[in-house]
Amino acid sequence: MVSPSALFAPAAPKFIAQEPQPPSAEQVELREGLLARQAHIDPKFLYDALGSALFTAITQLPEYYPTRCESEIFQRHGADIARHVGPVLSMMDLGAGDCVKAERLFPSLRPRHYVPIDISADYLQAAVRRLQLSYPDLQITPIGQDYTHALALPNSVPAEQRLFFYPGSSIGNLSPEDAHAMLCRIREQCEGGGLLVGVDRVKPKQVLEPAYDDALHLTAAFNLNLLRHVNSVLDADFDVDDWRHVALFNSASSRIEMHLEAQRAVRVAWPGGARAFSAGERIHTENSYKFTPPAFADLLQSAGYRDVAHWSDSRGWFSIFSARA
Ligand code: AVI
Repeated sequence: MVSPSALFAPAAPKFIAQEPQPPSAEQVELREGLLARQAHIDPKFLYDALGSALFTAITQLPEYYPTRCESEIFQRHGADIARHVGPVLSMMDLGAGDCVKAERLFPSLRPRHYVPIDISADYLQAAVRRLQLSYPDLQITPIGQDYTHALALPNSVPAEQRLFFYPGSSIGNLSPEDAHAMLCRIREQCEGGGLLVGVDRVKPKQVLEPAYDDALHLTAAFNLNLLRHVNSVLDADFDVDDWRHVALFNSASSRIEMHLEAQRAVRVAWPGGARAFSAGERIHTENSYKFTPPAFADLLQSAGYRDVAHWSDSRGWFSIFSARA
């Protein structure tokens, strides 16, 4: 017979065994970068929701000329550019962000299908909702993808008359080898179509460095925010106050470099690992390559493009290249 006290005994707490989760590809990549002799973090980690919003704010800074130069080129030479590009059925927008740059070209290029691709899917969703209201007849296929490693388009995107739009000099954030590989991947996806790409040009470091180290410290916030993003992906314990933003023009490599520099000796830990940084030690977070027009035309030709044309702003600071695949 069961004793009355046993009837009312509370049930034993249910034990939930949590299986150890294998690290994600992003976590593996971050750990490797942090443990490398020269610590580095891929610039894609700059773009969480806050990072994307900060970058949009950066484009409005007086020091950050690329966005304004690029829109000046489209304003002054838009008709000429559209003639060179030819008919466009679908427009793939690499790193679309708020989709505003592509939207400005809709009247001249008149795509029927718009495919914005961005690593920050949440940010893209909001932009696409807004866009669809303004262009109810435009077929929009947003893709949340890190397009720098693979470029997969859904079958719903017609194969003919494809235009890849790669504005903002984002191609400059890739190493020369990766830029070449990326241009080849794009070309394979748009045989018979073309590419419209924005490229930042070599210029004096008195212009370049303030563009990446502005007086309002927005670029510093953009760079430092990467540590918060890494904390959330890797469960690391970076303290933003321990670090400072550094931007410099490396003229030998023709690139702006962004780094985060430890302001004091710090130890950063994450599950299963840690790294000690001495005061002054840096984490390399971004390169932004600057090109001369002949160097970029060579890069396009070496990736198999033909019929290369380019247009510049009035100061010759930025170029738009159009090329056929
Ligand atoms: C997105 N990309 C082209 C920017 C650039 O100019 O390289 C990213 C950036 N980094 C700091 N400021 C802007």
